[in-house]
Amino acid sequence: MAPLTRSRSGRDGVPGEIVAEYYRQRASMGMLITEGIYPSADGQGFVRQPGLETQAQIDGWRKVTDAVHAEDGRIIAQIMHAGRVANSGITGQQAGAPSAIAIHGQTRTYEGKIPYEVPRALETDELPVIIADFVQAARNAIAAGFDGVEIHGANGYLLHHFLAPSANHRTDGYGGTPEDRARLTIETASAVARAIGADKTWLRISPENTIEDALDSDPIDALATFLAVAAGIAPLGLAGLSILHTDPSGSLVQQVRTRFGGRIILNTGFNSVTSLQDARNLTEGGWADAVVVGRPTLANPDLVRR
Ligand SMILES: Cc1cc2nc3c(=O)[nH]c(=O)nc-3n(C[C@H](O)[C@H](O)[C@H](O)COP(=O)(O)O)c2cc1C
Repeated sequence: MAPLTRSRSGRDGVPGEIVAEYYRQRASMGMLITEGIYPSADGQGFVRQPGLETQAQIDGWRKVTDAVHAEDGRIIAQIMHAGRVANSGITGQQAGAPSAIAIHGQTRTYEGKIPYEVPRALETDELPVIIADFVQAARNAIAAGFDGVEIHGANGYLLHHFLAPSANHRTDGYGGTPEDRARLTIETASAVARAIGADKTWLRISPENTIEDALDSDPIDALATFLAVAAGIAPLGLAGLSILHTDPSGSLVQQVRTRFGGRIILNTGFNSVTSLQDARNLTEGGWADAVVVGRPTLANPDLVRR
């Protein structure tokens, strides 16, 4: 099951009974990847999003993982730092991002909608703190009974901002060339793998996805950037790489797959809802080791049986 933000937790980021029941109902999907969970309060992007920072949040997730395991499912925590998608109405502070560039459009606070705020450019010496927050959240996930974690490097949140030239105008070692823009994602994946084991660590990326203004609009640059990510994580022996792309059997994704060399799970992205035929084409065609399915699971907890 693909990660799907549900916004059903408490204002304190604690997932309650309704969250445990939601995941329990979908245990037959085999491997569930949770909604994006913030690693630290400054990384919360959405109202009623859950966290993996406090003991109460860890205890809440323990009820979720116990419920899924009781039904013979497996569950992976997706760790998501929202970066400039976060707003001060939720976090009480200005969001941090690679550069001080706002997203166009509106976002939600507990009080209603506001325009996206201009983030501040993170200092270079703040980046180890962000990595440490991912690591601590990954440790907390294991303490909460998760079978592993997926680092959210996709869909226009903090790590994707660093990858995307439109959002990253830095001149330190974390901006500029594709290799430098890939650095934070690679360092985060490496640190998490060291902390909890590479066999429990997944990474999700979304090359050429234009969501949240994280534009990878130059196809040559996008290929170079995501090949740099693949090359950087290839030696780690991660559990796998999850790629969201409208053309998953196409050249970019399959080149990234070859460069990565490990297990790969694919998803066709937001434009069309994954169908059984899509899933069959990708797996039986040998393009992926598995597919992740999102929206069809929302109204069909028993999707596998159906
Ligand atoms: C309501 C909703 C919430 C989503 N939340 C997340 C999320 O938290 N993390 C993530 O990586 N992707 C998220 N996605 C993307 C899905 O994982 C998936 O890639 C997308 O829905 C396309 O697959 P589908 O056609 O099978 O739904 C979300 C999608 C939807 C529709």
